[in-house]
Amino acid sequence: MEFLRDEPHGTVKAYYLSSAIWMVLGTLAGFTGAVELIAPELLGNIPWIVFGRIRPMHTNAVIFGFVGSALIGSAHYIVPTMVRAPLYSERLGKATVWLWNFSVAAGTITLSLGYSQNREYAEWIWPIDVMILAALGMVFHNLLETVRRRKEELLYVSVWYVFGALVFTFFIYFFGNAVWNPSTGSITGIPDGILAWFYGHGVVGLFLTPLAVAIAYYVIPITCRAPLYSHTLSLLGFWSLLMIYTHIGTHHILQAPTPTWLKVIAITGSIAMLLPVATVLINLWLTMRERLPYILGDTGGKFVLAGTVWYLLTCLQGPLQSLPSVQKITHFNNWVVAHAHMGVLGFSGIIALGGMYFILPRITGRPLYSKFLADIQYWLVLLGMSGFFAILTAAGLIQGNGWLNGETVYRVLPEIHVYMILRLAVGTLIVSGAMIGLYNVYRSLYSSGTGRETS
Ligand code: HEM
Ligand code: HEM
Repeated sequence: MEFLRDEPHGTVKAYYLSSAIWMVLGTLAGFTGAVELIAPELLGNIPWIVFGRIRPMHTNAVIFGFVGSALIGSAHYIVPTMVRAPLYSERLGKATVWLWNFSVAAGTITLSLGYSQNREYAEWIWPIDVMILAALGMVFHNLLETVRRRKEELLYVSVWYVFGALVFTFFIYFFGNAVWNPSTGSITGIPDGILAWFYGHGVVGLFLTPLAVAIAYYVIPITCRAPLYSHTLSLLGFWSLLMIYTHIGTHHILQAPTPTWLKVIAITGSIAMLLPVATVLINLWLTMRERLPYILGDTGGKFVLAGTVWYLLTCLQGPLQSLPSVQKITHFNNWVVAHAHMGVLGFSGIIALGGMYFILPRITGRPLYSKFLADIQYWLVLLGMSGFFAILTAAGLIQGNGWLNGETVYRVLPEIHVYMILRLAVGTLIVSGAMIGLYNVYRSLYSSGTGRETS
């Protein structure tokens, strides 16, 4: 079958194209949601794009479609390269890309039709959950068989992170979506809240984070032309991430009547998260010491470096906002939306783009179609992300302090109206960046001959 054609790096290419397409569709959905938060009546309450539907369409499309596809795609290049064996099966890889895309598309369409399980990041209905689990299983099988055929004995830390992510994501997804309970996709009461946030937290911390870190560990030493500063530190970071991140999801529901002991674990664990984060950043930044020009001169390297800076900011903010005294002000408002964009776009999304631009020339055998367009996208996304951070954090502080002073939600809304307008304006930069990225990725994959500029 033509669409399962066995070609070198066909799987990685297909993931990258999918990611670029989902970045456009996902950010357009976010843009539509942002319009509705300014002028709720403007779009005439068309049922399939009302805010309650467009919001999960946006979040799932960007998390699984854009960031997820690019990260999984890069894993299909990094693992075979690091173990010095070709990918076990390009056909299986391609079949997985189709299944993954079909799931994200079906999830988006069913959400717009009003079918939802109504739990954050687990909104997709159960047939889609089953397809996502099957796709994860197929990726795992393909990469594991690749590792079994390896010529390199040493498993570099990126390989550890990829497998850690795949195993944990499978189980978190299975339990978090209560897949054995298809009619609701949930259990009941407070235990369901705990389960839902074990999952929601895991999606960012044990799916996006380890895959993004795997890419950073791969790209930075090569770009700097220097060995990794410390392998011991890298494994310390890996195991501490798995040990700590897995059980702190309750920091999302500190305001709910969850057991106190669980809250204490969640809060202390959130502070302890500084350990895995610091090991990664110290290790990567010491690898690139005195070699910054190499990184800045490389398109992919530059994205990855920016992503590590956002990782630091996100993970300084994370422990802070897990403190009940801080969360009294920051919970339930746009402060958290700022943090979410910092983590999912600033950190893992930008690293996903970096991995893609770093690997693309290596799998096509020619330079990127346009380094210039990639640079423009870099600045658009970076400016957009910085704007989101400033605008949404300010709006969140206004909301939180207003409520603390006894104002009603209704009275505070006009005060943040201007921030919602600013968010839309700044969001235009990110949407434009996504469109430029799609054009560049498409031309890099399918333009014959050499690229317009070297990468
Ligand atoms: C690829 C880039 C993007 C990523 C990865 C991303 C990710 C996310 C995530 C994870 C959330 C959930 C936030 C939370 O629940 O705390 C969210 C919400 C949202 N995003 Fe994005 N986003 C992106 C781009 C955009 C753009 C360009 C816009 C539009 C200007 C936008 C507008 C929104 C809106 C309106 C919400 C809902 C906020 C609310 O419920 O108050 N996003 N996004
Ligand atoms: C040291 C690491 C981190 C800690 C301790 C942390 C802590 C937190 C806390 C306490 C919340 C809940 C805030 C509230 O609802 O009041 C939260 C929300 C969130 N975090 Fe983090 N975070 C960390 C890193 C990250 C990273 C790396 C990402 C993305 C890859 C991320 C993505 C998110 C998202 C998407 C939400 C919004 C969830 C929602 O929709 O309500 N976080 N984080």
